[in-house]
Amino acid sequence: MGKKTKLMMLGPPGAGKGTQAQRLASRMGIPQISTGDMLRAAKKSGSEMGKKAAEYMDKGHLVPDQVVIGIVEESLKSPDVADGFILDGFPRTVEQAEALDSLGIKLDAVLNIQVDEDVLVKRLGGRRACLTCGATYHVEHNPSKEEDICDKCGSETIQRDDDKPEAIRTRMGAYRGKTAPLIEFYRERGRLYDFDGAQSPDGVTAAIMSVIEE
Ligand code: AP5
Repeated sequence: MGKKTKLMMLGPPGAGKGTQAQRLASRMGIPQISTGDMLRAAKKSGSEMGKKAAEYMDKGHLVPDQVVIGIVEESLKSPDVADGFILDGFPRTVEQAEALDSLGIKLDAVLNIQVDEDVLVKRLGGRRACLTCGATYHVEHNPSKEEDICDKCGSETIQRDDDKPEAIRTRMGAYRGKTAPLIEFYRERGRLYDFDGAQSPDGVTAAIMSVIEE
């Protein structure tokens, strides 16, 4: 892969996109650009954009394309992305993928993590998230050392508003209707790599690293 590595994580809610993006970012020394984390930070800051975004996110709906495209465009201007980046949660609609194309960005690889829906629902119900540094845990598979305290930054971990059952159902519907078409969009361009996300987090990382190192 070229010097500037441009990766994208694709997959349904709870597939492990954030978990893997964080691991890859620290191994490869390139930033994770997570639209979900950026929107949650905006919500926490109480900005007008954050309040509007929260109305969609908390119910499990996608935030309008123009809002998300705007924040990603800003991030991609940062000097931090000089050596590459990992997009996590973007693009999430065909319109967003076309917007990325129109910025002249060609992804090296789209990492598509697939897991059955019943497993996903269990994962999301047990997830705990740190709103300060973005780290994620699971009460059974990946607990923090001290209950409700982030191992990385010591802040409190919480259950996200959109990890409640009704919002999870809405998110799965949004994935099937709006995001799953991106699988064919990127497969046709020959840049899609499929991964079985039902393996352990280490197993998924190893499979991804072997594709990246090829
Ligand atoms: P976002 O934060 O992107 O949420 P998501 O796509 O629904 O993905 P998740 O964060 O829920 O899951 P993940 O795949 O990252 O899994 P994780 O690693 O955490 O977006 C939230 C909202 O923001 C959206 O609903 C929307 O409203 C808005 N938004 C964001 N981007 C947008 C966009 N581009 N356009 C419009 N709106 C946008 O893992 C899940 C759990 O499983 C964790 O507890 C983890 O510890 C555990 N786990 C991970 N891997 C494994 C494994 N292999 N085995 C067992 N457990 C595992």
